[in-house]
This record gives sequence, structure tokens and C-alpha cells, in this order.
Amino acid sequence: MYTLSQLQERRSVRSYTAEPIPDAVRRSLNADISELNSHLHGLRLQIVYGDDTPFRGRMGSYGMFAGVGNYVAAVIDTGVQFSAERAGYGCQQIVMDAVTHGLGTCFVGGTFSAQAIPVQVRAGEKIEFIVTLGYAAEKTRTMARLMAGIAHRKKMGGRDFFDAGRSAVSYDEAVKRYPLLAPALDAVSCAPSAMNRRPERFYLDSEGTVRAFVKDYTGLNPVDLGIAKYNFAQLLPGEWDFGNDTPFLPFEE
Ligand SMILES: Cc1cc2nc3c(=O)[nH]c(=O)nc-3n(C[C@H](O)[C@H](O)[C@H](O)COP(=O)(O)O)c2cc1C
Repeated sequence: MYTLSQLQERRSVRSYTAEPIPDAVRRSLNADISELNSHLHGLRLQIVYGDDTPFRGRMGSYGMFAGVGNYVAAVIDTGVQFSAERAGYGCQQIVMDAVTHGLGTCFVGGTFSAQAIPVQVRAGEKIEFIVTLGYAAEKTRTMARLMAGIAHRKKMGGRDFFDAGRSAVSYDEAVKRYPLLAPALDAVSCAPSAMNRRPERFYLDSEGTVRAFVKDYTGLNPVDLGIAKYNFAQLLPGEWDFGNDTPFLPFEE
């Protein structure tokens, strides 16, 4: 479980130093991967240390990423329902483990070259995205903070992720019923999302059950939904079903 301030501390890092990830941190990340692969159906996450293949050549020339040397490849079984969403959920756990160990991370959905990545991709599987891992280059870290401050964070608060139209009760009523809903939605507001689109929304149905959805369950939206569900459950402990409009079961009422 992570606190709101830990979740807020995370920023996408796109420029890395050559410092290797120490063995103790690798052990922790490797353990996360084995646990996630055995519990989340349709995932075969693989971690690669000391390799820059995804950003070499044509893709590397976009120049958005520098010094990437380690990453998790989110290999999913495309025949398993909700595997992309599970990958988002699971990889946000790895991201938070990495962040608490002082590493920088970034989900990368588009700007990497999937060919020649040294991971095993079987028939029916694909690399849905990768997550870069490493120590942030100092300059970029300052820059990223600056950008984050100016750009998006302030524009959407937790409340903006509550869909009052779809909900049976207002945001204030919902928070009365689940006081932890407010910090849980704040946790959603600092989750990473593809192109910073933040498509995920939450509501209470007529029975008072919390549900989440993305309007269009295609492309990287399911990944964003999975990430958001992970952040949500750090502040309001409980269990999510995967898929659109599925229920959230809090551990305690
Ligand atoms: C599924 C997914 C795919 C992403 N793909 C890219 C990418 O291809 N290139 C990139 O620079 N950032 C990518 N990002 C990072 C987002 O741009 C970033 O999370 C968002 O702008 C919010 O900024 P923050 O992570 O610093 O809070 C991706 C994020 C997610 C969740």
C-alpha cells in the first residue's frame, strides 16, 4: 500500500544516467514480476536490465528518451480478456516499488521499437507497452518538476474523475458514504496516462457500489484504467474486477 504523497511523488522520467540498478532493488522488482505473473491472468511481464534496444535506431531518433537502459516489457496474451488492463494495474505496482527505491520510470506505449526487444513473445501475445526504469538524469528531473507544476496536475483534481452524470448520487453524497473516496480519487488524479488523456471515471451505482469505466475501451485506455484502479485501491483498500463498469469491493465498509 502506498500513501497519497508517495503516489504524488511519481513523475514520468525520460532521461536516465548510466548508473546500474543495484542487486537489492533488482531482487524486489523481480519478486514483483513473479508475483504479478502468477496472479494476474494473461500477463507475462519480463524485465530487462542493461539493454537499450527499444530506443535504438529510428525510434531513438525521436529524442524524447535518453539513456534508457532497463525496462519492463508488458507482454500480454491478446486472447485473454482485460489482459491490457491487468498489465496497467500490475505495472503501476512495479512503478511504485521502483519509485520508493529512488528510481525514475515512464510507461511507453508508442515511441519505442517493439522489434528486436530481447524478450519472449509467443504466438497470440504482444508487447502492449514498456516501462522504463533507472536513475533520473539530474537536469531532466528539475525540468520534469517544472513542467509538471506548470502543465497538468492543477487542472484536474480528484473530484473531476467522479462522473456525476452516471452516478446515482452526487460526489458529496458518495464521499459521505465512503470518506476514503476523496483521497482515492486524488490518487487517481496523479496516475500516469497515455498522452496525459486521463480517460478513467468513477461513480456509484444505485446500490452504492463503486464502479469505474473508460468511455472507449480500446487502444491504451484499458491500460490507463488499470493504472487508475491500482492508485484508487491504495487509498480505499479493496478489490477491483477488471473490465468496464465492473464493481469495486471495499475490504471494509
Ligand atoms: C499507457 C501509457 C503510455 C504512455 N506512452 C508514452 C510514450 O509513448 N511516450 C512518452 O513520452 N510518454 C508516454 N507516457 C507517459 C505520459 O505521457 C505521462 O504519464 C503523462 O503525460 C502524465 O505525466 P506524469 O506521468 O509525469 O504524471 C505513457 C503513459 C501511459 C500510462
